[in-house]
Amino acid sequence: MTQGVRGTRDFYPEDMRIRSWLFDNFRSAARSHGFEEYDAPVLEHEELYTRKQGEDITQQLYNFEDKGERKVALRPEMTPSLARMVMARAGALPTPIKWFSIPQCWRYERTQRGRGREHYQWNVDIWGSDALEADVELLSVLVNFFEGVGLTADDLVIRISSRKVLEEVLGSLGISGDAFAATCIIVDKMDKLPDDVVAAQLAEQGLGEDAVATIQSTLGVDDLDSLAAALGGDSAAVSELAALFDLIDAYGIADWVAFDASVVRGLAYYTGPVFEAHDRAGQLRAICGGGRYDRLLSSLGGNDMPATGFGFGDMVIMELLMDKGLVPELASGNEDIVIAINEDLRGAAMSVATKLRASGRTVDLVLEDKRMKWAFRHAERTGAQRLVMVMPEEWAAGNVRIKELESGEESDVAVGDL
Ligand code: HAM
Repeated sequence: MTQGVRGTRDFYPEDMRIRSWLFDNFRSAARSHGFEEYDAPVLEHEELYTRKQGEDITQQLYNFEDKGERKVALRPEMTPSLARMVMARAGALPTPIKWFSIPQCWRYERTQRGRGREHYQWNVDIWGSDALEADVELLSVLVNFFEGVGLTADDLVIRISSRKVLEEVLGSLGISGDAFAATCIIVDKMDKLPDDVVAAQLAEQGLGEDAVATIQSTLGVDDLDSLAAALGGDSAAVSELAALFDLIDAYGIADWVAFDASVVRGLAYYTGPVFEAHDRAGQLRAICGGGRYDRLLSSLGGNDMPATGFGFGDMVIMELLMDKGLVPELASGNEDIVIAINEDLRGAAMSVATKLRASGRTVDLVLEDKRMKWAFRHAERTGAQRLVMVMPEEWAAGNVRIKELESGEESDVAVGDL
């Protein structure tokens, strides 16, 4: 019984150091843009995720009945929980609401590189603003994070489009409402599923061969002029995207971003700009994804409030950082190792450790009888800065012997000066 459930991970201390480093970078990018952290339970009512449009996420639900016969589920994503929290305090929260979180999410997925059955997903969302500035602020958070961990615009690209592109194409073909969302989910899989499967699914939504060809040619577009040519000069999608890219220029992050009409996203609730970051080499799954979802609350029985945000998993980014050699070597963070040279001095060593801890040092006290050789090895292995030795003669004189491990220098320090 040493193996956990398939698709789940253990985090040994050396893994946890890296994870904390990653999360610290998530936190600092969000904090630098004025977002506040929140959290919610991993267990939710199953009905929070019951959506009819055929998304993978609703089919991959970890759901069960609890002992009180309630239908519950482990959250596959944070957005519905966030929506529930916002809705519960609707009207009482000053807007815009700018919140972030790093929840563990559960999806019964096929495990592969960068995809597990649980992952941690950094979520950054803005509620209560329908301004494009809010969407671009999110891109700025992303770029701030990427720069913080040492990635450059040569390593990855944030591809952007708008649900309004498909809305206009499908609207002209008579598809709207729930059928529109369902069609977006099929279209999102166009490059992952065989053509005939996609065509059959689209036919179910009432789309024939001509319509499929129109969709495909529009999604192939990757510059705004061609999009304008395809959708017409008065297209709302085109003007929205043009305004968005003006703001992206103003932020100075244009190198990181590209328009790509094929970005649709596989979740039903998006209504406006949508984006996904991908490694430039194209070897990994999406690094993160998000977009505007102005009508989620009405689907949950509330009054709508504009919202935009993204989810950013901890797995693909680690693959990319490893590929690029950007994962730092992290030591345990222990500063001092305190050791008593013999058993009689154990109590003295404890008082020394207590004193050092009270002064704010990170102290590992050697708990059992160990030789000095062991203590040196232990110090080296854990990357400690100092070995603090409690020795009979020195102790009698009111001192401890301190060895600086990097320089190898040793000196006696009065216990009162520790
Ligand atoms: P999503 O595209 O389903 O969006 O997931 C967002 C990100 O979570 C993905 O790009 C990936 O980094 C990570 N992710 C998803 N599933 C897995 C998995 N099985 N294993 C590892 N990583 C995974 C959402 O979940 C939206 N709720 C995001 C959002 C927030 N939109 C607006 N606000």
